[in-house]
Amino acid sequence: MCGIVGFIGKEQASPVVLRALTKLEYRGYDSAGVASISDSKILLKKDVGKIAEVQGKYALDGLPGTIAIGHVRWATHGKVTVANAHPHMDCDGKIAVVHNGIIENYQELRHQLEGDHKFVSDTDTEIVCHLIETYMRMGNSLEQAVIAAIQQLVGSYALAVISVDEPNKIVAVRKSSPLVIGIGDGEYFVASDALSFLDKTNQVIFMEDDEVAVIAGDGVDIYNKKGKHVNRKPTKIEWEWDQASKNGHDYFMLKEIIEGPEAIQNAATQDKKHVMDVAMTILRAEQVVITACGSSRYAALIGRYLFSQLAGKFCDVVMASEFQYFASSIDKHTVVIAVSQSGETADVMEGVKMARDKGAKIISIVNVPGSSLARIAHKALYLNCGPEICVAATKSFIAQLVIFYLLSFAMMNKLDQGTKQLKGLSVGVNGSFDENSQKLMVLADKLHEQGNFYYIARGINFAMASEGALKLKELSYIHAEGMPAGELKHGTIALIEEGTPVVAICPNDETYHETVSNAIETKARGAFIIGVSDRDNEVYDAWIKVPEVEDIFYPLSVVLPLQLLAYYLAVRLGKDPDKPRNLAKSVTVK
Ligand code: G6P
Repeated sequence: MCGIVGFIGKEQASPVVLRALTKLEYRGYDSAGVASISDSKILLKKDVGKIAEVQGKYALDGLPGTIAIGHVRWATHGKVTVANAHPHMDCDGKIAVVHNGIIENYQELRHQLEGDHKFVSDTDTEIVCHLIETYMRMGNSLEQAVIAAIQQLVGSYALAVISVDEPNKIVAVRKSSPLVIGIGDGEYFVASDALSFLDKTNQVIFMEDDEVAVIAGDGVDIYNKKGKHVNRKPTKIEWEWDQASKNGHDYFMLKEIIEGPEAIQNAATQDKKHVMDVAMTILRAEQVVITACGSSRYAALIGRYLFSQLAGKFCDVVMASEFQYFASSIDKHTVVIAVSQSGETADVMEGVKMARDKGAKIISIVNVPGSSLARIAHKALYLNCGPEICVAATKSFIAQLVIFYLLSFAMMNKLDQGTKQLKGLSVGVNGSFDENSQKLMVLADKLHEQGNFYYIARGINFAMASEGALKLKELSYIHAEGMPAGELKHGTIALIEEGTPVVAICPNDETYHETVSNAIETKARGAFIIGVSDRDNEVYDAWIKVPEVEDIFYPLSVVLPLQLLAYYLAVRLGKDPDKPRNLAKSVTVK
């Protein structure tokens, strides 16, 4: 969803901005660009393509000057073209702007401005440049012009703005899009994610909605939308940039899959009192709703089974983008659990704001420290799994499951026992990694030309079928569906043909026989059955053996081969599993 960066310091700014941008590439990789100020001019390079491609053509890090802004794009308004790439400029080339978000009223603003200004792109962002230009022409300072401009904007934005008329400052502002300021030693950053500058400083200021920051070479001043000064102390982020390196692996995805057991350990290491407190809030609530998107929602669906099976607590899971339509059922007796790796997903944030306004209690389960969701929640639980760079969630999904286990055990007043079991389990879940990797690589080679995959499972593992299918779709662009095994015969079985791969997740629990029966039904129609199970069966054409665990823990036992199958198919098809087309890790627009 676009990443923005700004830097002002003593050294040449463009190499710093470029380095920071490469760490934000998970947010978008359609286009990239950098603008700096030198000799009273804005110097700008931008193009379509991944950062490495644009850098290869234009040497973005060659731009002179000690102040620069940069952008990686995930297109929303306007096609992927050079003209639509950021930074954007005003008519005179004196102001440059990078933007993450969507200006919803950009068409009417553009019509108003078009008489006096020349537009060169189709983006919503360009109107911001011209609005600021208008207010600066009236004699306003850059920050006054930005404050005046944002009064006219409807939508979401994180903006970083520079101007040759005031060449020693970056003005930054946010509304419903993330923006963090980094305080270094005589140098300052502003970025969509602190991860981008963690190698330089871990002292950060999280900006709030409608705040405007003036970031100069000698300090940062923050103002509210009325122009009143706001005092804000920096906080320290505990993450290390080292945690976000590939560590010798070809892709972040493989490295992050391998970190699964560590993710279990770290997520299970929580403050006991805090977990108990959150669990009691859930248990006592009249109504509990979990909301999330993507993989986080599948983790939530498993959480729902756990709450019910272990603690007898019924709850519902509502897809975040649909949550607003249930607003009339949310009140002060509701507990909303919002699950999000990034803590910035726009749909989740919107649902949570709605629920908070209606008096609901908000519990967040997040990974990114200081994220918007963590800050808006009444109580937050952290995944503690470190930076996750691959667009597709792997270790964060596992950590989310762990939090749901902990909460369920806490509701039964068995938190110590549950924590011990989870930590013990982490040792074995990747046990058959090498053997399974070999088998899955062979399967990927055999099946990579198949157009459709179906994933089936029952009970608590049903959401694992959906998660397995999602991983495959997003990474390899092969159509895949995950569903409760019993539902298959109500329509989808019509799609099974000779050789269609069906991944049957059938651990040796109460669901085993029925899931196997459903697999047999597909086999009778020609399906190629991949059994993901600790128990063999003659119906399997390929058996991916998983560790035998207590029934309730099977989601943690079957997750590894599902992630690896998607990974190996993507690699076999020559796709980049870390940066799937059209996707972004942090979806900060609705
Ligand atoms: C995007 C990502 C998914 C992720 C989803 C929710 O679609 O590509 O991998 O599961 O957002 O993200 P969140 O940060 O809210 O967990």
